[in-house]
This record gives sequence, structure tokens and C-alpha cells, in this order.
Amino acid sequence: MPQPVRKAVLPVAGMATRFLPASKAVPKVMLPVVDKPLIQYAVEEARAAGIEEFIFVTGRGEAAIADHFGPDEALDAFLAARGDDTARALAARAVLAPGAAAFTRQEEPLGLGHAVLCARHLVGDEPFAVLLADELLLGEPPCLAELVEVHGRTGGSVVALAEVPQAETNRYGIAEIAAEEGRTVTLSGMVEKPEPGRAPSRLALIGRYVLQPAVFARLAAQPAGAGGEIQLTDAMAAMASEAPFYGVRFTGRRFDCGSPAGYLQATVACALERAELRQDLLAFLRGIAPSP
Ligand code: G1P
Repeated sequence: MPQPVRKAVLPVAGMATRFLPASKAVPKVMLPVVDKPLIQYAVEEARAAGIEEFIFVTGRGEAAIADHFGPDEALDAFLAARGDDTARALAARAVLAPGAAAFTRQEEPLGLGHAVLCARHLVGDEPFAVLLADELLLGEPPCLAELVEVHGRTGGSVVALAEVPQAETNRYGIAEIAAEEGRTVTLSGMVEKPEPGRAPSRLALIGRYVLQPAVFARLAAQPAGAGGEIQLTDAMAAMASEAPFYGVRFTGRRFDCGSPAGYLQATVACALERAELRQDLLAFLRGIAPSP
């Protein structure tokens, strides 16, 4: 029986230059999609997968994230005095249990692998999840729960995968496929941001991982890879050549909120799901859409 996956690492230190000036003082993952910050979508997905401890690897703006997931007695008292139970419940929903959130700093932007390595001592010697909050994944079951399920069955490392256009392979980690059964893929390797002509497939890693703690020793010993950064993909590729490594094709909806276009699409899609916003928004969109 594999060890349960109890901890999640959430790297949130990115500079988010594509979101300036909004991301100047506010971490990008605190930007809202409708009225909920991106990071809360990721935390809720992790909670739904059974995660109990949340390790945020931060850069600037750590306080905003800590405040968001901590209790706010003044706000609660204010809303209670006004009898606004709906708002109270919305604020309370963001609060993590005492001790469930931990923060560690990535002092230099040395890449995703380096960010994960910064969480090494907080994770310890057990399998753990990694979630990249700028990938907003809406699925039922939620994506991470699917990975945790495959890990529970196989004991191997597991990543989420989705097909991307051939021309875009150089934006992602790309899987090298050994075998496929249903939506579960066995990986023989993976490559970070290969040019379209050299990509081993069109299956991209989309920011959800369940990893064995052996990845830390790999990361610690690893030279810089693509873009001069310590790449998580390189450490996982080495692991895939030695131990079972799986992928799950994600079938829900995916929004790359690392780009303004993806972020806007996520905002519109999530707003259209809200009964109180849907009709007005649809009427507005129809009004501004060019006629066919
Ligand atoms: C990171 C990972 C990459 C992955 C991508 C998903 O890249 O390095 O393997 O496919 O996230 O969004 P980044 O977008 O940080 O350049």
C-alpha cells in the first residue's frame, strides 16, 4: 500500500511579467478569476484530493497569500454585526486549518525545480503533490484527485497531461510515451520545452504532479537545463527511466492563466457558470461580438 499523499507544494514565486503592472505588488496567483484568487482554486482542488498540508514557495508578496488563507477576526466580526452570513461563509471558506499552511522562500528565480527543492525539508520523506496555480483546471473529478488515485493504485509518480498543438511544444514539458491504457499513459521520459520538430509527442505536462521524495536528491544534484533554470522536468525524466512513471490525460477544461488571453478566457468561462452573472454577460458578449 503506497504512502498517502498528504502534502502539496505550491510554487508561487514567479515574476509574472506578462501581468504587469497588476503583478507589481500583488502575486499573480492572487489575481481573481471572477471573485476567487487563482491560488484558492488550486488549494480547493488539492483539498478535494485529500491534501492536508499546503507548502507555499513564495517570492515577493508572501503576506497577501498568508493573509488570504489565515483567519480575519475583524472582518468576521464586521460581517457578523451586519448579519451577512453569505459573505462570512465565503471568507471562511478560504481559511486553512491552524498549522496547515507553511511558507518558504525561493530567494532567487532559478526555476520550477529549484522552487520544489526549496520545499524539501517541509515535505520530508513522503510522496507529495505539486500544483501550478496558473494552470486553472476544471474537471470532475478534479485533476489532482485523479493523479492521487493512480498513485494509490500503482505507487508510482504521476503527472497530468493534455494534448497541445504541435507548434506549442516549446512552451511545455512534453511526455515521451511508452504505453497507453485508457487515459493512463506510461512515460519513458519527458523533455522540457522541445522545439516542435524534436518533441517526443504532443502530450504536455499541465502543472499537476504526484512525486516520490526521491526527486529532491535528483534536483539537488542537477545542473541547469532549458532556459538556464533547474528544471523539474529533467529530474522527473531521470526518474522515469528507472521507476514507474505515469501520466493521466486530463479531460476537463484547462485555462493557461499564465497568459493574459488564457486568464480572460477563464474569467469569462467561470462567470458564465454563475447563475447571477450568466444572462447579463451573455447579452453583453452577444452585443459586442462582430456579426457573422
Ligand atoms: C512549467 C513547467 C512545464 C509545464 C508548464 C505547465 O513551465 O516547467 O514543464 O509544462 O509549467 O504550465 P512554465 O510555464 O513555468 O515555463
